[in-house]
Amino acid sequence: MSAMRIWGIALLAASVVATGAPAQFRPPGWFVDDGALRKGHKGEWLTHGLDYAETRYSPLDLITAANVKQLSLAWSFDMETRRGLEATPLVSDGVMFVSSAWSVVYALDAKTGDLIWKYDPHVDRNYGRRACCDVVNRGVAIYRARVYVATLDGYLIALDSATGKPVWQTPTVDHKRGYTITGAPRIVKGKVLIGNGGAEMGVRGYITAYNADTGELAWRVYTVPGDPSKPQESPALEKALKTWTGKFWEAGGGGTVWDSMAFDPRLDLLYVGTGNGSPWMESLRSPEGGDNLFLSSILALKPDTGELVWYYQTTPGDSWDYTATQHMILADLTIGGRVRKVLMQAPKNGFFYVLDRATGELISAKAYADVGWATGVDQKTGRPIEAPGVRSQSPLMPMMQKPGPLGAHNWQPMSFHPGTGLVYIPARMDAFPYMKDPKFVFSLVPGVWNYGQIASPTNDQLPPGSGELLAWDPVKQEARWRVPLEADWNGGTLATAGNLVFEGAGDGRFVAYSADRGEKLWESPTGVGVIGSPMTYTLAGHQYVAVLAGWGGAASLFGENRSGKYGVPGRLLVYALDGKGKTPPAVASRAVPAALDYNKDLAYLQKGSALYAAHCVMCHGIAAISGGSIADLRYSNESTLKMYPKIVLEGAYQPMGMPPFGDRLKPDEVEAIRNYVLDRRAAITKTSEKSNRR
Ligand code: HEC
Repeated sequence: MSAMRIWGIALLAASVVATGAPAQFRPPGWFVDDGALRKGHKGEWLTHGLDYAETRYSPLDLITAANVKQLSLAWSFDMETRRGLEATPLVSDGVMFVSSAWSVVYALDAKTGDLIWKYDPHVDRNYGRRACCDVVNRGVAIYRARVYVATLDGYLIALDSATGKPVWQTPTVDHKRGYTITGAPRIVKGKVLIGNGGAEMGVRGYITAYNADTGELAWRVYTVPGDPSKPQESPALEKALKTWTGKFWEAGGGGTVWDSMAFDPRLDLLYVGTGNGSPWMESLRSPEGGDNLFLSSILALKPDTGELVWYYQTTPGDSWDYTATQHMILADLTIGGRVRKVLMQAPKNGFFYVLDRATGELISAKAYADVGWATGVDQKTGRPIEAPGVRSQSPLMPMMQKPGPLGAHNWQPMSFHPGTGLVYIPARMDAFPYMKDPKFVFSLVPGVWNYGQIASPTNDQLPPGSGELLAWDPVKQEARWRVPLEADWNGGTLATAGNLVFEGAGDGRFVAYSADRGEKLWESPTGVGVIGSPMTYTLAGHQYVAVLAGWGGAASLFGENRSGKYGVPGRLLVYALDGKGKTPPAVASRAVPAALDYNKDLAYLQKGSALYAAHCVMCHGIAAISGGSIADLRYSNESTLKMYPKIVLEGAYQPMGMPPFGDRLKPDEVEAIRNYVLDRRAAITKTSEKSNRR
């Protein structure tokens, strides 16, 4: 049935010729309405997390633990970018809708991978520098034959699902501030919901609902209070205002809704996760303390009006970039003999939360990772029990704290298998030397990071992180099994009724495990690192599993590319039993660069390092070790090294996304950065790159 509709466009033309009367043409996704989103559609993947509960558990069972060994590539598609790929593809009516870097959207034949249309919103490349964590896009929404994408530069666009032509578009951010959008929109009760990101750039977080038909704004809810001299937008914000001090609003406050949402149609509640404070450290943002509501919180809102029904703050007075924007899953669990309607989240702060999703009551919280900042969560108050001294962040005595700002779990989605009762978490861990910058001055210049931290040369000595696939029992609040992984930046997970869990490993493999026991049953090299979120669908009696493979995202910052593959274009890989496709070739690892002379004066190199940390680190990586999607500056050839003023000050590479810095750096400062880069290069010309990794 649905296979017929893929060919809709071709068939329409053919049938007019054959019969003289046009067959009824139905664009892909024409049937996706509130009912379809609520009930789901077996064999299709209609919304970001598969269903409103965002379970990422597929009932499809053609691919099973018994036959997964026969899984092989059916087709692949070149995503035309080396920048980050984080989207979950959607499939409806035999058409796959998938977004790429710079918010480009593709519609592909889900059976063959043939391109049906491509929509490029032509995002201003200067927005690249406002993006904290690369120019990624985590996906689109489908509703009534339209495809919705939110762009990095802050527009929400409705596309015709058959042609990819825009039907309407609306700006959803203030372009004077450092907002960006990387999250996938969701559709609830005829409204498109979209948040935004940019806390480090000094923004005030919010979520907006638009009429899906017309693009008209329905409501907007801020997550943190605004200027106290003016009335707040809601009673909830009046209350929140009492938990802030100082001139917090000048820096925006943060609390951005950059990723997760879920919806319970019965309770009629929309859940959104909010992000960290701006700047990171509370004493720089709200000098006399306070919880700083609603940072790092889960909010339950009325989807018709945005009215706040309850909230739960995971990290009061956040000072460590511990966002609660991580994936949330709704499920009904039997706890203590009672069926509880729960919401589950494993935010960056390292605790796994099970909340009553009707009331926000804390049912339980347990550390799912090696957490240093708090010893537990007080069951009565629902507040974390902070470890002594975690707020000092003295530059004299940097405290290596766990988790670091990338969290014990980041944007990579989890999944929940109702059969095993387990949540599969792409868990990770690293320690970070939090150090308050005493000279911190807030800046509204787009692209300047307001995290108020010293990113000093000591960051070069960051210990390596670790990653694992963690199967967590949310009732007992304990690990059932774990699979340690080579890299600490692995992909999202997918659980299926075939007793399977799929996850991309950061070292470049796509792997299937048994869902009950975590045995590795199948793996395939992707030729590139895997950072996507796998999904599955059926067409004409075949089950497919799709994943985006590539590098980028926050991995650019932390140099997480352990696959040794650099500069490989990202790709969409689609697998089936006995697939006949060929995995595109990998690009060979790089040669060790030639040693070059440079100024070795320590103070000079430290100046270069500090300037690098302030202006270049978010794209070219900490300690000049790139994640592989953007140029690794240590490997530049000699003519490029001579072109620094042209590239860095004058914008010679601007069309490729390298912003010019002539407005904020002087030639001698660029020269100091160049010498710092050469010093970093000298380290890899002497020793092997691996031993030089952070
Ligand atoms: C917003 C992201 C971003 C920031 C910030 C950034 N760059 Fe780049 N840079 C790029 C991109 C994109 C390229 C193009 C090459 C590529 O895609 O790998 C590039 C290329 C370069 C190149 C050419 C490298 C080569 O070998 O071809 C140099 C040199 C460079 N950048 C230096 C810097 C310096 C120095 C800073 C800080 C002052 C900086 N960049 C900040 C994104 C960025």
